[in-house]
Amino acid sequence: MSAAAPLLEVDRLARHYAVSRGAFRAKAVVRALDGVSFTVHAGETLAVVGESGCGKSTLARQVTMIERPTSGAMKIDGIDVVDADKATLKRLRPTVQMVFQNPYASLNPRKKVGTLLEEPLAINAALGTAARRAAAQAMMAKVGLRPEHYRRYPHMFSGGQRQRIAVARALMLHPKLVVADEPVSALDVSIQAQVLNLMMDLQQEMGIAYLFISHNLQVVRHIADAIAVMYLGKIVEYGPKADVFARPAHPYTRSLLASTPRLRRDASRTGTPVSTTVDAPGRARAAIRGEPPSPLSQPSGCAFHKRCPYAIERCRIEVPPLEPLGAVLVACHRAADIDR
Ligand SMILES: Nc1ncnc2c1ncn2[C@@H]1O[C@H](COP(=O)(O)OP(=O)(O)O)[C@@H](O)[C@H]1O
Ligand code: SF4
Ligand SMILES: [Mg+2]
Repeated sequence: MSAAAPLLEVDRLARHYAVSRGAFRAKAVVRALDGVSFTVHAGETLAVVGESGCGKSTLARQVTMIERPTSGAMKIDGIDVVDADKATLKRLRPTVQMVFQNPYASLNPRKKVGTLLEEPLAINAALGTAARRAAAQAMMAKVGLRPEHYRRYPHMFSGGQRQRIAVARALMLHPKLVVADEPVSALDVSIQAQVLNLMMDLQQEMGIAYLFISHNLQVVRHIADAIAVMYLGKIVEYGPKADVFARPAHPYTRSLLASTPRLRRDASRTGTPVSTTVDAPGRARAAIRGEPPSPLSQPSGCAFHKRCPYAIERCRIEVPPLEPLGAVLVACHRAADIDR
């Protein structure tokens, strides 16, 4: 990692929600995001991975400044955003853009592609109609859309093409950071690789950093520089991609790796970093036992203890802190003594 100041600096960030449990009962607190810390440098990709409900989208809403965190600190480009006034937030917003999981829902069906791409440019009043159109057409070419697509509506495209449009729209203001929340999860496996390759090419070309969110650890194998594995609102393992894949330190990371098929490099398509070949069915995989607990009733000790094959008595009582082990940080009492 570079020595320069990070583009995104998140320190013990938390977002809690008060939820009603019925008319006559006191409100409960959901600790959707429960104190996460990490950094992303310019041009890097941090992948945030974990099962549904672990707080990934909540994190995305804090980083994109859609919501205010309950506590903790966050700096974007060196500027504190947690206590920032409206003017500062407004100035910072173009720096961070978002791509959502579902391009069917995130693109207004009544607007043509050209309009969808030119809309973000409206914040720059100095830009005339012709300049906006030229910028949209240039971006369309970058993401592999054809000039005639400019006048078409989102429903006339395939899922993969629609996600290309969503990526193009997110890049119109030349953001430094793109938060992509499950950007390929709604797509066929064959199309996933194309969109991932496109995102990697654009990163090279434009120097964008990604906060790339996925429930599938294998999807981020090629795109990520670093990985943060989340469980019930907390980071349980955080480190360079190569280390997390080669020697997963947390039992939860190990079960995530074991439970998902792998997107493999395809030797016949040299130059293409990701291909669509998936492990043959029937390959032995250890599924994760049970469901994640509700963040409304956090288990005592290690939140993973009821599902963990390595759990010991101490795990039920003591919360494991996130501590260095080799090149990674891991929150597990037994990380140093279980065989990797
Ligand atoms: N606005 C909200 N109000 C109450 N609970 C919420 C809200 N948003 C998210 N949650 C809860 O917070 C937890 C994390 O949700 P989310 O961030 O969407 O997880 P993920 O994106 O990893 O699936 C879930 O238990 C979810 O029900
Ligand atoms: S602290 Fe204990 S229960 Fe939690 S992951 Fe480690 S071994 Fe498993
Ligand atoms: Mg989500």
